[in-house]
Amino acid sequence: MAYIAAMTTRKILWHPDPHLKKKCAEIETVDDATRLLVDDMLQTMYEAPGVGLAAPQVGQIKRLFVMDCTPKDAEESEPMALINPRIVWTSEETNVYNEGCLSLPEMYADITRPAEVRVEYIDRDGKEQERHFDGLWATCAQHEIDHLEGKLFIDHLSGLKRTMFTRKMLKMKKERARD
Ligand code: NI
Repeated sequence: MAYIAAMTTRKILWHPDPHLKKKCAEIETVDDATRLLVDDMLQTMYEAPGVGLAAPQVGQIKRLFVMDCTPKDAEESEPMALINPRIVWTSEETNVYNEGCLSLPEMYADITRPAEVRVEYIDRDGKEQERHFDGLWATCAQHEIDHLEGKLFIDHLSGLKRTMFTRKMLKMKKERARD
């Protein structure tokens, strides 16, 4: 169980931060360092608490995110790590979800996205996988993949609303003396 003891919670960056605007690089090999990052990110996400967390949110400009959208009352959780994820299909049907983000605490907005997606990715064991997502899982996967392109959920809004969210975040960072 040594690796569990080594897990640490990482600091989640708050918008605005240059790390959150970068296009992330592909992960070439899934090695122990990648697995440690995955485990740290899962722990950080569960502690926050949140349902998804992308690597740039902890300052790692890499194509990787973790998520677990199982309902709170579910008997078993389903921690997932998606490395180099790629959306290979989206439904024409859309879904509106009141989204939030651990990099913009306490801020929410209705965002429209395809209701279902199919994603190809590499898992924590380095194996190629393909999964079909719907409901909150589909929304979360698309929100997290946006992060890997340097895009936040507020970038789906009008310039005016985006500026309002950024102003609120600057104020919150100042009040809480946070970078
Ligand atoms: Ni987010």
